[in-house]
Amino acid sequence: MVGFHGTVGSAGEAAHLVPAVGRLSYGGDYNPEQWPEEVWPQDVALMREAGVNLVSVAVFGWAWLEPAPGEYTFDRLDRILDLLHDGGIRVDLATATASPPIWFSHAHPQTLPVDVDGRRLTYGSRQAICPSSPAYRSAATRLTEQLARRYHDHPALALWHVHNEYACHNAHCYCDVSAAAFRRWLGKRYDDLAALNDAWGTAFWSQTYTDWAQVQPPRATPTSSNPGQVLDWRRFSSDEHLACFIAERDLLHAISPGVPVTTNLMSASCANLDYWAWARELTGPDRLVSNDHYLVATDPREPPAQIAYAADLTRSFAGGPWLLMEHSTSAVNWQPRNLAKPAGQLIRDALGHVARGSEGAMYFQWRASRAGSEKWHSAMLPHAGTESKIWREVTRLGRHLAALADIEGSRTEAPVAVLLDYASGWAQEAPNQPSTDMTAFAEIARWHAALWRAGITADLAPPQADLTGYRLVLAPALYLIDDAAAVNLRGYVERGGTLLVGPYSGMVDEYDRVRPAPLPGALAGLLGIRVDEFHPLPAEKTVGLAVAAGPAGGTAGGPVGSTNPPTASGIDLLASGAIGLVWTESLEPAGAEVLARYVDGPVAGQPALTWHRVGAGLAWYAGTRLADGPLRTLLGALAGRTGVKPAHPVPPGVEAVRRRHTDGRSYLFLLNHTAAAAQVDAAGTAPLTGTDLLTGDRWAGTGTIPAGGVVVLAEQPSGTR
Ligand code: GAL
Repeated sequence: MVGFHGTVGSAGEAAHLVPAVGRLSYGGDYNPEQWPEEVWPQDVALMREAGVNLVSVAVFGWAWLEPAPGEYTFDRLDRILDLLHDGGIRVDLATATASPPIWFSHAHPQTLPVDVDGRRLTYGSRQAICPSSPAYRSAATRLTEQLARRYHDHPALALWHVHNEYACHNAHCYCDVSAAAFRRWLGKRYDDLAALNDAWGTAFWSQTYTDWAQVQPPRATPTSSNPGQVLDWRRFSSDEHLACFIAERDLLHAISPGVPVTTNLMSASCANLDYWAWARELTGPDRLVSNDHYLVATDPREPPAQIAYAADLTRSFAGGPWLLMEHSTSAVNWQPRNLAKPAGQLIRDALGHVARGSEGAMYFQWRASRAGSEKWHSAMLPHAGTESKIWREVTRLGRHLAALADIEGSRTEAPVAVLLDYASGWAQEAPNQPSTDMTAFAEIARWHAALWRAGITADLAPPQADLTGYRLVLAPALYLIDDAAAVNLRGYVERGGTLLVGPYSGMVDEYDRVRPAPLPGALAGLLGIRVDEFHPLPAEKTVGLAVAAGPAGGTAGGPVGSTNPPTASGIDLLASGAIGLVWTESLEPAGAEVLARYVDGPVAGQPALTWHRVGAGLAWYAGTRLADGPLRTLLGALAGRTGVKPAHPVPPGVEAVRRRHTDGRSYLFLLNHTAAAAQVDAAGTAPLTGTDLLTGDRWAGTGTIPAGGVVVLAEQPSGTR
């Protein structure tokens, strides 16, 4: 039987993620170059008042540090690092390579990125860089080397911050330099042109390549580019940015050994980089995973569900603790309507990340800028100054993080894995699919949110990962699946796992070529089904689902257990008049049992939900996208059958997440997202006894979380007093 606690990555339980800080990190981006030096001592004094212990310095400071070619002026950086050190504040020192100075871009126009239409973009904002440019790469590593040599033994240095949000604005560059790099990358992937032609299916539309020189990026062309070419292009672009990171990282390791290196990812908002590949380069000795996260007002998910997804994903990249490098104290400035956070949300948001493995909370940025594009972005020290709601909450959060010292190194418990594969998402969201509504990345996040609403904490995992530790594995959107992943999923189920697969999965191989019949290709045998034809729904149309006639639907509820046959009363989603969205398909069981059928729509009467016993486990399939309500019901029911429980039973609007040390000490984070106080009680075997680390209050079987508040209960093991 599968065990309880799964992890994806390989990080060990280190005492301190950032050893030179030695506790949870607190601070933000600090841009002293935007301020006269007289302001700096005031900054340091206020940082101390707020409990700040780490700041990211010079993230966009290249022009400040190298005002003219090869002329490095470090005196001001020397002074601010000394000042910070004297104030007891550690530094996450940026390599400043995310935005070259104007003089550089002006002198090297070939380093500016070219878009898909062949338009060369210009300087004047940030990240105006072609990631494949040798001129950019050598200028960036020169600056990195200078910084590393000068500051590797500075006592304030705690962490190296490479670049900033790789690919945030320049995911793909279509210039000739990139084209040549793409050909070199393809040359390594495919032995010869015949293999490339085969992989890309170039017999179609007379696209056969007869010379490597003919191969180019998928630039604008009269109609859709070759999907295999686009898929490889996306892999290539991710690798090019990663190569930039590795070059800087390796220099830092060589010159500044023992100081951890990171780069800030955008786990939930950037699907342009294959972050599983990045995670391999960001874990291990002297490296750590860090992440930036911003709430999006138009996202259909609740703000804390957005945070939970970003944090769970980042923790999964790290395989353990990680660092929240940026988020916002209140409003951002880059959405159409930038919503301020109501009182209390600043603290809940930060501790929501901490509950899910972040070893601290950092912000963009320390002091609000007076000029530039981000002058109306919130900061720790807002334009309103210290007589402000934000400052009061910032100082309170500083005290809270100091009070949470004991949680460092503990791990968030997550008994479920949700599968995410970047190449699969890229292929599925390419043009010319059966329905543009069949998004991949948003659907994965939607399933995660359904679990979150059911109170269940999940990891994310690539489909090739070792899934042994998870009781339940979900594959919401796995259109592309390579052979290794197919074997992995079968093995997981055979050994007793429960797998639920969403529609349109298993269809194509790693080159985006349709797999041979029967559909769904790589997963047909495991799921015990045959798909005959897709019937996507017209926009906004839904279909009804009903309990299937026959044994599965007709029997009374049997005993709960992952290997017992499901019954209608065991999975009662159908009682609620479940509906499906976006997609249906005509489907025949080929070994699977049918739990639900469509009552209307293009394939009325056909199976919508099936299960298939394989070895010691069950493989479930949903042939439609269940609406949020029934999806939550189904996931909750599967969790129940597999023994997956919420961290603690809580009233609606309260979130419960547990972190645990390997020696058993555990911490229950209770976040009250409602405007009323919430009472939480002991339940069954969950005793709810311990001390709230934030207030020192004792809980003995019951307790109250203030409206909008947070409790972090250091749990007392049962049987002790
Ligand atoms: C991030 C970026 C920061 C700042 C922030 C604003 O993407 O790393 O430099 O621009 O967004 O929300």
